[in-house]
Amino acid sequence: MSENAKSAVLSLGGKDYTFPVYDGTVGPSVVDISTFYRDTNAFTYDPGFTATASCESKITYIDGDEGVLLYRGYPIEQLAEHGDFIETCYLLLYGDLPNVSQRKEFETAITYHSMLHEQMTKFFSGFRRDAHPMAVMVGVVGAMSAFYHDSTDINDPQQREIASRRMVAKLPTIAAMAYKYYAGQPLVYPRNDLSYSANFLQMCFAVPCEEYKINPVLSRAMDRIFILHADHEQNASTSTVRLAGSSGANPFACIAAGIACLWGPAHGGANEAALTMLGEIGTPDRIPEFVKRAKDKNDPFRLMGFGHRVYKNYDPRAKIMQKTAHEVLGELGIQDDPLLDVARELEQVALNDEYFVERKLYPNIDFYSGITLRALGFPTTMFTVLFALARTVGWIAQWKEMIEDPHQRIGRPRQLYTGPTHREYKPMSNR
Ligand code: SDX
Repeated sequence: MSENAKSAVLSLGGKDYTFPVYDGTVGPSVVDISTFYRDTNAFTYDPGFTATASCESKITYIDGDEGVLLYRGYPIEQLAEHGDFIETCYLLLYGDLPNVSQRKEFETAITYHSMLHEQMTKFFSGFRRDAHPMAVMVGVVGAMSAFYHDSTDINDPQQREIASRRMVAKLPTIAAMAYKYYAGQPLVYPRNDLSYSANFLQMCFAVPCEEYKINPVLSRAMDRIFILHADHEQNASTSTVRLAGSSGANPFACIAAGIACLWGPAHGGANEAALTMLGEIGTPDRIPEFVKRAKDKNDPFRLMGFGHRVYKNYDPRAKIMQKTAHEVLGELGIQDDPLLDVARELEQVALNDEYFVERKLYPNIDFYSGITLRALGFPTTMFTVLFALARTVGWIAQWKEMIEDPHQRIGRPRQLYTGPTHREYKPMSNR
């Protein structure tokens, strides 16, 4: 927060109130209203937090009008092109790209903590086979706090570090086991000779009957997808993790809360919903019917994978995801995926339709991710699990930043109350 605080004056009830204004290194300034209620006896009101900065952060910057996304200052396009997920994890957690020795130490630690406590594998068989894998993720990740008691004290920096690395390392194993259980196949253990993303793919798709062959193009695509989903400022699930963490809840419980929030179709569940929508549309000739429904205020249907609270320009991740979709389909020899044809046509229709142009509704990261993930072999129910796997490092980085902020307090918003005022209890005979 810059030292050269300016100020803002607000008039309320014929009286002027002055509040400090702080500038960040880039992006909108903030008006510090932390004394607003004490000074004015009124609350500010911002449902959905469309104009509210909940914290100060140094991790991820988004410029929605310019379509910019920076992780610790590095553009997502450069990280996706030149980097990999392990170094992106290091960058988000520790603030800069690792050098050779830092990367080796970090990658080795993650590799050698990818196994679960063997007793945890029993959890999976407690679920119905057809349980949605996100339900399994919420349950098993939350249950980590029942197994790793030596890293739940949030006030101990060493324990915070151990918990952080345990989750980055074990989420792929939990996600893969959730998939294997859902698919009715034997659980596959991590291999220490593989990269993070190649290891994840082998845990998902290896079977005892034959040797699993790593496809470098597909594991590179998986790695890039993880990079794109790693963090995204104060989105709904990250805010959930911060709010849960502000009460002092253990890190595993906080990440489980983030997974639960991400599941919603308006948020991380949109990749699953977008692919389902493309399937419902089926062929390009049915696009006008669905676009009409998306514009109809009386119809709850929305074009999944379109629109964003922050991006009022193209989501930079969507462009990279579209390129990745083509690479994966090309590598797998899938020439004409009918859903890709529908997606391309739908994108063109929407980008030229006044309703979407006026509201600045562009494809977001979820629009093309479903096509790519399906081509990689994942069922639609696994799409948000993959999003949660990748976003875990961002949630942890944001949680650590909050815990280590000396000014942090428990989050406790207020309300505009419009319910009944005081009234006396009525006995049944008077109701
Ligand atoms: C993610 O926050 C993040 O950073 C999230 C995320 C991340 O990395 O963490 O980027 C990941 O969640 C991406 C978003 C995925 N969700 C979807 O694709 C679901 C479909 N999108 C919409 O539900 C919606 O666009 C939201 C939820 C993403 C954004 O909602 P807002 O900001 O609250 O916008 P809004 O609902 O106020 O919409 C503004 C207008 C409305 O019309 P009017 O009332 O002005 O007439 O645009 C319309 C909306 O009806 N609108 C849409 C639409 N999205 C918004 N109309 C049709 N289809 C859509 N998809």
